[in-house]
Formats: sequence, structure tokens, C-alpha cells
Amino acid sequence: MRIALVSDGGIGCGALPALIAALRRRGWSVIPVLLPVSAPGLGAALLSDLCGSAAVSGGALPAVDVTVVAPCEASLLAALQAPSGSGPGWRGPVVVVPIAAAPVTTAFQRAGWRLAPPGEPLLGGGVTGLLMASPEVVCQMVAACVAPQDLAGTRVLVTAGPTCEDLDPVRFLSNRSSGLMGLALALAAWRRGGRVTLVHGPLQVDIPRLPELQAVPVRSAREMQAAVLANADAQHVAILCAAVADFMPAHCAERKIKKGDGAGYALELVRTPDILATLGALPRRPFLVGFAAETHDLHAHALEKRQRKNCDLLCANDVTEPGSGFGVATNRITLFARDGSVTALPLLSKADAAERVLDRVVAALPVARLSP
Ligand code: PMT
Repeated sequence: MRIALVSDGGIGCGALPALIAALRRRGWSVIPVLLPVSAPGLGAALLSDLCGSAAVSGGALPAVDVTVVAPCEASLLAALQAPSGSGPGWRGPVVVVPIAAAPVTTAFQRAGWRLAPPGEPLLGGGVTGLLMASPEVVCQMVAACVAPQDLAGTRVLVTAGPTCEDLDPVRFLSNRSSGLMGLALALAAWRRGGRVTLVHGPLQVDIPRLPELQAVPVRSAREMQAAVLANADAQHVAILCAAVADFMPAHCAERKIKKGDGAGYALELVRTPDILATLGALPRRPFLVGFAAETHDLHAHALEKRQRKNCDLLCANDVTEPGSGFGVATNRITLFARDGSVTALPLLSKADAAERVLDRVVAALPVARLSP
């Protein structure tokens, strides 16, 4: 994919190296474009070096798939928001990445244009007020420009990460889930136009702050169930990828449990609520996708789980296989559908695996929306 990176050369350009690196890490070509009004900023030579592509000056854009205006400072944003301000002949999708100092009006509504939300402070040392969306947010917005919008108007709930079941104020039971797979599903659904609610336990990954992606942090299985049920009614699709603890301590001690005289300690555990099975039993439920983390007899266990928890699609992964399951960037998923079909996906990045899962969801959705 080819991206034109339009910059007006202002002080916010200090954020460009990280953004350019993030765009290029995804394998995208970045062509720097300096506007006629550009201040010296980072300089054409440095931008060309960072992008590995000669800077274009003068305002005419090269042929690209997506244009990114970053950082977009107050004067440029005002020009873009003026009724006649359409940029110098810009065509195709445009992602505008303002800094917070630049006011945004509702006049910013143009087909194919996306406005990044403000992000973290650009400058430290007591200098405040300059904010630009993180490189990850910009990359997601760019990817969304070229993604199929086949989930537009669809509300998708995703659960991700582990749950933590507290024993006392300092100890808890949990598992190895990082949240990568659930986040990949949430982001893929968001890029495809879905309005996403991500209910998640404590994650080892950051959630990009994107419009229409609502993150609901929880800790325990019971909290996750409450958050899922509170949101379930409004959803068209629910994808339960979280590694929910199956057991929790029967009691959570108010004070740190003392180790005593060195003898063993017996922990009484009770079952947690099964969130997927609870959704599966609802008379009106969203299109329901479950996951299954297996260590052996994957097919038999997955078939039994899909049926018992009454989900429309079950994504099973063998978490003992290297490169699959917990905490890694890739996954090998086998899909078990309600119609009895079984589809073994190859080992894929979690982002690609998420897209393949959503392809199946999208294909089934018109039917699912009509079902009770
Ligand atoms: O987070 P990562 O590090 O990226 O790892 C990804 C993953 C391995 C966690 C993910 O791919 C995965 O397999 N998620 C499901 C893990 C799991 O809990 O599997 P399970 O077979 O124990 O549960 C089956 C299904 O029931 C799951 O959809 C689970 O969310 C749900 N469940 C389980 C127990 C419970 N009390 N309530 C539930 O809703």
C-alpha cells in the first residue's frame, strides 16, 4: 500500500519518526509530501531518509491509496475545515491527525475523510498542549480506509484476556492469556466498520484509543459476566475469546493470608459462571462465537463445547502447539460451525486469523440477524 504523508513542517513534526517507522513496519510505502506553506520542520532531506522515498514538494500528491495529514496543526486544520478547503486536489481516503491545539468543528465531514482522536502529549518537560494520536491509532485508521466495510452498522462485543480471581489483597488465580487474540478480533471488527465493545481482563497489550471502540475493563469472571450481560442485548455479534477462569476461591480473604507454621494450605475453589453458556441459553442472543483452548483431542472437545454452549461458531486452538495460543503473535485456529462444517486455518498472525474468523461471521450474519 502507498501512503502520502502530508506535513506542514511545524513543531509537531517531532512525532513523525515514530509514525513513519510504524507505517513502514507494516510494509507500507510512505511518500513524504511537503505543502507549499511548510516550515523547515524536520526538513525534506531527513523526511526522505526516514521514509526511504524522495519528498514531494508543492502540494500536488502522488498517486497513493491513502493520504495521512500528520501532524495537522491549527492553521492547516482550519484551512481543511473551510467550506472550500478540500486540500490541493487530494483524492482517495484521507486520515487527518490533528494536534489538540487545533480546534475541530463539526464541519469536518467529508466522504472518505477520517479524523484521528487526540492522543498522548507529544512534548514533556513541562510543555503541554500538543497531542497527537499514537502511531498505532494512525496505522489502524489507515488500515480501516482500505478494509471492506462489511460490518458497518453492526455492533460487535469481544471479550479478551484472562480473568483474575482474588484470594486475598495480594494473591490471585489467573492464566497465561495476553489479550492479543481478543484485541486482534476487536480491531479487525473495528476496521471493518463495526461498533465494538471490548470487555477485557488485565491485558499485557495496550488498547489503541479509537472512536467507536469502547473498552470495558474488568477483573474477575463475575465482573466479566456482568459487563457482557449488560451489553449483550444491543449486540449483533458476540465473540468470547477471553480465557475466563473456570474456578475461583470460595472466599476472598480481607487480609493477606499468613503462611502459618509451614504446613500446607488447602484452597477451596468453586465454579465461576460460564459466560458463553449463559449467552447461548438466551432466547434472543447475538450471533455467538466461542473459543476453545485445548491441549489434546481438539476435535472431540471442540465439537462437544460448541454444542453444549450453543454457539454458532467455535474457534479451537491447540495451546500446546508452538506459535499457537497464549502470548504469541500467531495462532492456528480450526473453525467448527453450527452446520457441522469444520475448517482448519493455517498458522496465521493473530490479525490475519481474526480477519478469517470475521469472514465467517459476515457470511453468516444476514441469517443470524433473522434468527430468534
Ligand atoms: O490472549 P492470548 O495470549 O492472545 O491467547 C489467546 C487464547 C489462547 C486465550 C484464545 O485463543 C483462546 O483460546 N481463548 C479461549 C480460552 C478459554 O477459556 O477456553 P475454554 O475452552 O476454557 O473456554 C471455552 C469458551 O467458553 C471460551 O469462549 C471462553 O471465553 C468461554 N468461557 C469459559 C469459562 C467460563 N467460565 N466462561 C466462559 O464464557
